[in-house]
Amino acid sequence: DWTMAAFRDEAIAKVRAQVGDGRVICGLSGGVDSSVVAVLLHEAIGEQLTCIFVDHGLMRLNEAQEVVGLFRDHYNIPLVHVDAANTFIGALEGESDPETKRKTIGRLFIEVFEEEARKIGGAEFLAQGTLYPDVIESVSFTGGPSVTIKSHHNVGGLPERMNMKLVEPLRELFKDEVRALGRELGLPEAFVGRHPFPGPGLAIRCPGGVSKEKLDILRQADAIYLDEIRKAGLYDAIWQAFAVLLPVQTVGVMGDGRTYEFVCGLRAVTSVDGMTADFFHFDMEFLGRVSARIVNEVRGINRVVYDVTSKPPGTIEWE
Ligand code: XMP
Repeated sequence: DWTMAAFRDEAIAKVRAQVGDGRVICGLSGGVDSSVVAVLLHEAIGEQLTCIFVDHGLMRLNEAQEVVGLFRDHYNIPLVHVDAANTFIGALEGESDPETKRKTIGRLFIEVFEEEARKIGGAEFLAQGTLYPDVIESVSFTGGPSVTIKSHHNVGGLPERMNMKLVEPLRELFKDEVRALGRELGLPEAFVGRHPFPGPGLAIRCPGGVSKEKLDILRQADAIYLDEIRKAGLYDAIWQAFAVLLPVQTVGVMGDGRTYEFVCGLRAVTSVDGMTADFFHFDMEFLGRVSARIVNEVRGINRVVYDVTSKPPGTIEWE
């Protein structure tokens, strides 16, 4: 009989067998997947594990504090907090090609991990929360010829020259199974139920060029949108919801003045595994409320649109 408890014990045994007495570093992103990996590895190998939270400046509002709080305070798992916002945003500035953005972010992650590994006297292994759908989507489009849709930074985006071996205990799991494993490992329900968040973070929700100013605008709009979703009791009915800052400015009117500011796109989808998705059917009152709040409260946005594209043909993220 297959149970999550049995899977967990088996996964722990496999990690121990792979790693021996080597050192492992684990990149934490704040998402469910990397958190589950970190807690699983902590159980499996204890002090041989060093968790690294790379704050790339592409996190959502307050996310960095939440992650650091959960691991340091709640779990008491040692955590290295690297503030690399200037490095990442500096490298992305002026770059608008989606694949180049993803690859740049993937490369910088590895550079940071390698540097941190050196600081602790070397690590042979890098642990990642790669899931089964990440593996499939990075390799080929289901049913079609072999075409890369997106380089997931935790699969295809890794530079070959990386000199650490990968530990990927979730490689055979789908998201709902990862959540079940998280519960099995005692992660708080609020954490296990979080919407997925991509490794490249808000960079791929700012189509085109990224800047600190744009990221700040996007973070505020995104927080308002999720606040309203939670208040409406819809969070758990949605697979993923987020704001996108479009590289388009439009004319508006506020008070008795003309405005010329950015357009904010809202995305929300239902899905079972992220491989296919339907747009979420909000009622118009809800969307109107979110739009009014964003335009009133966020300087830099004067128009809001809702994305009604399913996957396929759209992907969930815009880049
Ligand atoms: P797409 O946009 O390809 O996304 O329909 C499917 C799911 O994968 C997430 N996603 C990523 N997760 N690293 C990740 O860890 C990535 O590079 C990445 N790109 C997309 C996306 O948020 C959605 O849940």
